[in-house]
Amino acid sequence: MLLTEQEKERALISNLAAKHDHQRSALIPILQAVQADYTYVSEFAMQLVADLLGIHAAEVYSVATFYQFINTKPKGKFIIRLSHDMSSIMKGAKTIARQLENDLGIKFGETTPDGMFTLEWTNCIGMNYQAPAMMVNSEIFANLTPQRVNQIIESCGVEFRSHRPTIGKVGETFTNTLTYSSHRANAGLNKAVGMSRSDLIAEVTAAGLRGRGGAGFPTGTKWNLAAATKADAKYVICNADEGEPGTFKDRVILTQYADMVFEGMTIAAYAIGAVEGIVYLRGEYTYILSHLEEVLAARRKAGLLGNNILGKSGLSFDIRIRMGAGAYICGEETALIESLEGQRGEPRNRPPYPVNTGFNNKPTVVNNVETLATACCIVDRGAKWFTSIGTERSKGFKLFSVSGDCSRPGVYELPWGTSVEQLLDLVGGSGAKAVQVGGYSGQLVPATQFSRRLAYEDLGLGGSVIIYGQERDLLEVAENYLEFFVEESCGQCTPCRDGNVKLLEGVQLLLKGKCSTRYLNELIGLCETIQVASKCGLGQSSPKVLLAINEHFRDEIMVRPISATH
Ligand SMILES: Cc1cc2nc3c(=O)[nH]c(=O)nc-3n(C[C@H](O)[C@H](O)[C@H](O)COP(=O)(O)O)c2cc1C
Ligand code: SF4
Repeated sequence: MLLTEQEKERALISNLAAKHDHQRSALIPILQAVQADYTYVSEFAMQLVADLLGIHAAEVYSVATFYQFINTKPKGKFIIRLSHDMSSIMKGAKTIARQLENDLGIKFGETTPDGMFTLEWTNCIGMNYQAPAMMVNSEIFANLTPQRVNQIIESCGVEFRSHRPTIGKVGETFTNTLTYSSHRANAGLNKAVGMSRSDLIAEVTAAGLRGRGGAGFPTGTKWNLAAATKADAKYVICNADEGEPGTFKDRVILTQYADMVFEGMTIAAYAIGAVEGIVYLRGEYTYILSHLEEVLAARRKAGLLGNNILGKSGLSFDIRIRMGAGAYICGEETALIESLEGQRGEPRNRPPYPVNTGFNNKPTVVNNVETLATACCIVDRGAKWFTSIGTERSKGFKLFSVSGDCSRPGVYELPWGTSVEQLLDLVGGSGAKAVQVGGYSGQLVPATQFSRRLAYEDLGLGGSVIIYGQERDLLEVAENYLEFFVEESCGQCTPCRDGNVKLLEGVQLLLKGKCSTRYLNELIGLCETIQVASKCGLGQSSPKVLLAINEHFRDEIMVRPISATH
């Protein structure tokens, strides 16, 4: 008997729900799997998923519509998403956009009449030093030229395998040798299991390792807090969401040193007594998933995951991977946990902190990819070695993702304490007008301050460095950042949700040369309100760019050439 299309969809969804034990936390993977077959999640599918998970259809709808990569309307067989980050814009993304529109005969936001292609802008896809770049479904195409656009479109007919970009193991630019490359596989884990938990945590604490995800929280303290909390289950989460525009070092670590990330997660699991690890991998990095699964399988086979790891009785730990679905805010650790539980990625109130009440309300350590890989080196070589590198309050080395106006962009490993000037010399970016450190939520450093140091004593950062040359219009930069924050605000707090829209409108007025001094002053006041009244780092950071331009580049605002105003 032939099944109707709806019967087939019903069977697929029923199987998916059964596979996930009808768990609410599996809502997002279920929606992703439905979409993989149907290109979108229909109302019929949402109702059925709701019934099978025992929740209201409105909840399914509210989750599905939160994530950019979950489609609730039919889209093309191939979704082309062109990266809108500043590095891409600086390297010609708008010319690529025009060529895409010309060759496909549609505008951004539209689908071709034959249902083959949908064209969209997307936020940073982590390819900043090979910009401009775009995704076609989950494949990534970098170093785009207008000439290549048509070639890629044509090759979609044959699923474009032959045109894969030079990403992953091929073509990454390392300008110096990473410390990771001399790490002997599992040397850290071998040492860790020979230590007591408290000695292990003491070593990481003595090393002064601070989280590499941006906030710089001391890793040893975090592990200690989770270890000290009594619970029947604990978790280690690797934050591989890497959504901060201009950051791509975690992607490079995951493609080149995945084994070290998993080793680091296992060390953390031993330290706190966790039995399960989860990697939250951003949807933009789907292309790395199969590689990560292979590395995990090899570790299981080698007895490095599973029960009694390395023969250590009681050390049982395994790792699974959860795909993100296109939401920057899910990099914030509590939003990430919400997302893992099948909810909208909305940051939680803190306290309680994840170390006490995290995933499934159990003690949870969330660490960045780089933090975990670096922990392996520390446990192997000792705190003394690590503290001999860096500065008083910023120990060790750090990976920086460098892009923008420089001749040698790429991933750089440098000791903390390096000045902006030294970094610019190294990457061929001398003579820049300004440098954005720490991504869009970081700081815009003017040339007069290039002697400042990359270190928690001065400029603490997660790793993104974007260089702006003398010709760049910093108000256009601010417009790009604010468009990003408006789109990525989770919408929970009014100052962030509405305030960023007002700031964007204000910057657009400034770009047109139509902003009174009084209104500019009001905008600056609004910046301060958004910063103090927002719940999480997104709203607390989004106004920084306008404040910096107002402070250091007031001429860009007040003395705009008439021809530049539009
Ligand atoms: C809006 C926002 C986005 C964030 N995105 C990331 C991210 O993509 N990756 C990351 O590791 N940390 C991100 N963080 C920081 C995390 O909340 C958290 O501090 C980090 O994962 C902890 O790991 P660490 O201590 O190893 O740095 C973000 C924070 C905020 C406020
Ligand atoms: S500050 Fe913005 S992103 Fe953060 S919780 Fe509030 S609305 Fe959401």
